[in-house]
Amino acid sequence: MKRVLVTGGAGYIGSHTIVELLNNGYAVTSIDNFSNSTSKTFDRIFKLTGKKVKNYNIDLSNHKKLESIFKDQEFDAIIHFAAFKAVGESVHEPLKYYDNNLGSLLGALKIAYNCNAQSIIYSSSATVYDQNEKTPFTEKSNLNPLSPYGMTKKIGEDILFDYFKNNSNLKILSLRYFNPAGAHPSILLGENPKGIPNNLIPIITKSLKEKKSFAVFGNTYKTPDKTCIRDYIHVVDVARAHISALKYLEKKEIRIYDVFNIGTGYGTSVLEIIKAFEKNNSVKLNYSIKGKRQGDVPILLANVKKAKKILSFKIKYTIDDIVKTAWEWEKKNLS
Ligand SMILES: NC(=O)c1ccc[n+]([C@@H]2O[C@H](COP(=O)([O-])OP(=O)(O)OC[C@H]3O[C@@H](n4cnc5c(N)ncnc54)[C@H](O)[C@@H]3O)[C@@H](O)[C@H]2O)c1
Repeated sequence: MKRVLVTGGAGYIGSHTIVELLNNGYAVTSIDNFSNSTSKTFDRIFKLTGKKVKNYNIDLSNHKKLESIFKDQEFDAIIHFAAFKAVGESVHEPLKYYDNNLGSLLGALKIAYNCNAQSIIYSSSATVYDQNEKTPFTEKSNLNPLSPYGMTKKIGEDILFDYFKNNSNLKILSLRYFNPAGAHPSILLGENPKGIPNNLIPIITKSLKEKKSFAVFGNTYKTPDKTCIRDYIHVVDVARAHISALKYLEKKEIRIYDVFNIGTGYGTSVLEIIKAFEKNNSVKLNYSIKGKRQGDVPILLANVKKAKKILSFKIKYTIDDIVKTAWEWEKKNLS
């Protein structure tokens, strides 16, 4: 059985990925300090899979502590999710983001070194791209992150590439996720953003639950219905992409560093999401049109040909699945 260390295993994407890993026969260990999650997630993973996951409640930036704990263990792969991810907050508190996101990546790399893990999968993001580039973005599109959060993701990729150049047997993939959304079909796992949510779907579910109105930013974009178009991908599909990535690395005999977009290649506008949400959940949403947000571009889509061809990755879930599971999760409120 292959042994995988997942950092940020109690988080949104990490928890869904652990379920897929366990269901695919991997042995999983997690590190999560619950800075943006809860330990109850592991009880729900057990409920879903019948398997217990050992989690170390450690800050990955605490490299001394990591060294003392992870000196005698061996892993085949590390999937590194642990990071802060609120774009807006990163603008106001950039050092908090550089400190945590780069400190935790270096911690994960130290474990990889000490525990002989040869495969590393890194959570990157569409925020690394130059938003003014022609969309859909390919992996070769220019990079120019706008926020400190996006910068930490790009610097993370650069660190991994430098590290790769000097290591004879490492296999590293950076996965650039587009807009992960929705919840596990069991409604036992889902997104739990602390404070004010940043992304459209949690904004909708939270405002509906609190019976409040939400803002649609801009209806004068050059798109068919004049609202912004994004590439939403169901979180279970994002999790499944990690299994495809691991299987690809397992087959690779030689060292490799590569980058893949993880999206659907399909765009959905803000108004289309609203309509799909209302139709699938038989609700009426209360929203008002506000001015454009600074930095928002009309269309951001992933070109997903590379992941399809090389990782054999295909999506399974639809926008309808996203909006249905997201609302079921919010109503159930297990966080
Ligand atoms: N969710 C998205 O929309 C999205 C999009 C693109 C990229 N990403 C990236 O995917 C990864 C996972 O995102 P997510 O949505 O699951 O976030 P999340 O906040 O739900 O999960 C991250 C987990 O990491 C833990 N963590 C953070 N810093 C830590 C540290 N120093 N030590 C130990 N644990 C720590 C948190 O407690 C949390 O459980 C992140 O790297 C994020 O940047 C997310």
